[in-house]
Amino acid sequence: MTDVVPDLDPGAIAQARALLADARRIVVLTGAGISAESGVPTFRGAGGLWKTFRAEDLATPQGFARDPRLVWEWYAWRRTLVLQCAPNLAHHALARLTRDRAGVTIVTQNVDGLHARAAREAGARTMPLELHGNLFATRCIDCARDAGDVQVDSASFATLPRCRACGGLLRPGVVWFGESLDPGVLGRATEAAALADVALVVGSSALVHPAAGLAGHTRAGGGAVIEVNPDATPLTGQATVTLRATAGAAIPRLLAADPSA
Ligand code: OAD
Repeated sequence: MTDVVPDLDPGAIAQARALLADARRIVVLTGAGISAESGVPTFRGAGGLWKTFRAEDLATPQGFARDPRLVWEWYAWRRTLVLQCAPNLAHHALARLTRDRAGVTIVTQNVDGLHARAAREAGARTMPLELHGNLFATRCIDCARDAGDVQVDSASFATLPRCRACGGLLRPGVVWFGESLDPGVLGRATEAAALADVALVVGSSALVHPAAGLAGHTRAGGGAVIEVNPDATPLTGQATVTLRATAGAAIPRLLAADPSA
């Protein structure tokens, strides 16, 4: 049964805290909404990137083949934007959870690297699984070599970054529409979700698969689903508890040692 609560209902918070306290294994599944309060735009909804930009031009292999300069210009802009942002209270609280408890896996669709930054700052024992890659990673389109974080000058086609090994064009190390996720990363995320007693789903529209299906593995294994999102999503009907609030308001309360503090 779903308990939909307006804002931070104390009963729902208590129910969610009890589920987390009893869990041996927790999977945290996050989307763009967790970074919204850091100033990183989401994809859908008011102000979402896909309201202004065309995904087929900027986030597909075909778009890159047509106009790599345009695609790099967009990714260089997103890199600059993210570099001006910092992890927020929700990223930090989740990073401390992975530092303080065993059996917690963070799986994110976000490419902004903010979970990893918070994890490093907290001295977390595990790093987040980045399902859709990372804005600061690059890969050669010819030899597929992972070229790491390289400077990008998108002024012209001639200045775009090239592979040191084969001279091929480098592309952003993110997953685009129509592409498969890294099978190793997806496999670890699916296993973490299937074994989890609780899936804590934060700030995702639950529209993009396979990420959107991960909480279903927790459900299928008998686990509970806690959803944190100001809006309803296709996952809401499957959630054990729904916290209708922003990540920055809900997550610190959910994970605080003393929720009344
Ligand atoms: P979306 O932009 O689709 O959804 C963001 C969700 O966050 C929405 O459900 C919002 O209601 C919610 N939200 C907004 N502000 C929030 C806040 N402060 N706290 C909590 N939730 C908030 O983002 P994703 O679900 O992550 O993929 O999108 C999935 C994928 O679609 C992305 O990884 C990206 C995109 O196209 C690729 O580029 C391949």
